[in-house]
Amino acid sequence: MVKPKIAPSMLSSDFANLASEAERMLQCGADWLHMDIMDGHFVPNLTIGAPVIESLRKHTKAYLDCHLMVTNPLDYVEPLGKAGASGFTFHVEVSKDNWKELVQLIKSKGMTPGVSLKPGTPIEDVFPLLEDENPVELVLVMTVEPGFGGQKFMPQMMDKVRTLRKKYPSLDIEVDGGLGPSTIDMAAAAGANCIVAGSSVFGASDPAQVISLLRKNVEDSQKTN
Ligand code: DX5
Ligand code: ZN
Repeated sequence: MVKPKIAPSMLSSDFANLASEAERMLQCGADWLHMDIMDGHFVPNLTIGAPVIESLRKHTKAYLDCHLMVTNPLDYVEPLGKAGASGFTFHVEVSKDNWKELVQLIKSKGMTPGVSLKPGTPIEDVFPLLEDENPVELVLVMTVEPGFGGQKFMPQMMDKVRTLRKKYPSLDIEVDGGLGPSTIDMAAAAGANCIVAGSSVFGASDPAQVISLLRKNVEDSQKTN
């Protein structure tokens, strides 16, 4: 059975205090720290890059789950590998021609390769990356348009999660966007096991309670499915 992983999105943290925010999330029970890397081109927002990952790495041993919302993911592999990123998840929409090279390079730098897809992208587009002899190890299903935290969860994306879970029982399936206590049931029932949550965790008066609720939901759905 795939392990539940709860990954607070550091995009909702106080970036001026990133190290202590990361430590706080780990104390609250986070499994991974989700790092949203945006280039202001693939998405209309600009966030952090390898220098920030490198700085944070000096303060934590945590799994840094990097989500690359960038037009040229290949350019980021080497710097992020050096910086100490753990997971490297690129978007399928911008890697039609070079995903094989990308996956190989990501692995050679000691990172875990993942692929993500925007709401408008059909799930079939990621199948070749899962069926290759050198496959991606995680699929991140976007449940909002990438770019910003605090948006509304799109329940119609759960069809993608269900399709994936049926086909790949032991795959890490991550959902990202609008996840929290009111939407986790749908994602967990569909078969997601990696849960990214930004505003619902950082905006909570008791983030530890939200993290444990998210985890419990995933565990409970796994028992009944
Ligand atoms: C959006 C990012 C998300 C975002 C999620 O493009 O990929 O990781 O931070 O934030 P919430 O949980 O607030 O929707
Ligand atoms: Zn993300």
